[in-house]
Amino acid sequence: MEKFVINGGTELHGTVNISGAKNAAVAIIPAAILCNGICTIENIPTSISDVTMMLRILESVGAKLRLIDKNTIEIDSTAVNSDFVCYEYTKHLRASYYLLGALLGRFSSARVAMPGGCDLGVRPIDQHIKGFEALGATVKIEENAIVNAKAEELTGGHVYLDVVSVGATINIMLAAVCANGKTIIENAAREPHIVDLANFLNTMGADIRGAGTDVIKIRGVEELHGCQYSIIPDQIEAGTYMLAAAATNGDVIINNVIPKHLESISTKLLECGVTVEEYDECIRVCGNGRVSRCNIKTMPHPGFPTDMQPQMAVLLSVAKGTSIISEGIWENRYRYVDQLMRMGASIKVDGKLAVIEGVDHLNGAPVRADDLRAGAAMIIAGLMANGTTEIEDILHIDRGYEYVVEKLTGLGADIKRIETPDPVRISNAG
Ligand code: EPZ
Repeated sequence: MEKFVINGGTELHGTVNISGAKNAAVAIIPAAILCNGICTIENIPTSISDVTMMLRILESVGAKLRLIDKNTIEIDSTAVNSDFVCYEYTKHLRASYYLLGALLGRFSSARVAMPGGCDLGVRPIDQHIKGFEALGATVKIEENAIVNAKAEELTGGHVYLDVVSVGATINIMLAAVCANGKTIIENAAREPHIVDLANFLNTMGADIRGAGTDVIKIRGVEELHGCQYSIIPDQIEAGTYMLAAAATNGDVIINNVIPKHLESISTKLLECGVTVEEYDECIRVCGNGRVSRCNIKTMPHPGFPTDMQPQMAVLLSVAKGTSIISEGIWENRYRYVDQLMRMGASIKVDGKLAVIEGVDHLNGAPVRADDLRAGAAMIIAGLMANGTTEIEDILHIDRGYEYVVEKLTGLGADIKRIETPDPVRISNAG
């Protein structure tokens, strides 16, 4: 077991390089099995555990992987021969369900155990199933929660998503690229990683139009070929460092970003009185003392991302005045609030709303990373608090933040990863 120990109170200064996007990588890696060839994918954040697990899943179905350099992997899908992924693999990450769309697209058959992932409340997959059925597949949930999807032949279809779902949009795209005929996804998600996946598939020879709007049109092609592709920078990792810079009253250049993807975050920081300067491929965030209050409502892209909500709550916990957050995507994304209150924050949660009374400062405390972004929020809280913060359960943070200790240390933070002894197990002598 490991934990982070942070001595807070240091202003962050310097430049940080942002890694490739986790949520794009975990969609693009399984998409590579749709071709019977070799894809070379660059800018993969290879050291985060969601990505390493996704790569292991690919090997389990027969793909051959070769590490070309630290962030480039060659995926050879010619020997992919299995349509089955068991729970031992899928329990580690939500995105394992992209194997459903990818295997269905490749073999017209997929048997994939229900996924794990962050506990953010109920995470149904009804829209994924609706999409597969619209393409002519039959979907059953079998013993051991195996989702079994099969079709004689996948045929293009018209899908209207009842909720804007990133996962369902991606899964339907994966299944539809080689289907017979045209597929239209309406009310599609518009996140940057949807566009990145479409660009990757198009580079492999797919015919996808409209990604980034709420109507995606896919004309099925006979087959896809191998390609070379570079993944976009991680929007949420970049946003997290922007918030860390603002929260510590620092001055940080966040490098290797697409500023357009960060607009909803930049706008809120400006509203709070933080200086944000945009350049072609970097963004500079500069604190100006205690921030002003603001309200946040999380929404699908291009709205304020739910994956930045906990980090923003930390900043607002020391703002001048009262801020209100409205969580519009997940029913259980305030679990970090208990931890933040241990550090002196004043927050009341009522259903989807959190009312944050800004306090003067936070104090270091032993806290827990309840999920990936909650963990990121705890790091920011620790960086700006007085004294020492110890964060447990950091395996959640390792799922999505590459070299977080090294990157923060490079900005002047006092943060260390330390081994902790396993908890003592008391055996039942009776
Ligand atoms: C993706 O999750 C991200 N994960 C999440 O990031 C992110 O929070 C979320 O999108 C929203 O932006 C990955 O990309 C791997 P959804 P996903 O399907 O695809 C409901 C992180 O921290 N819904 O867009 O699982 C659902 O309950 C992670 O990096 C249905 O009702 O999210 C939710 O309320 C955490 N039926 C809403 O839609 C469905 O079939 C949005 O979910 C599917 C979803």
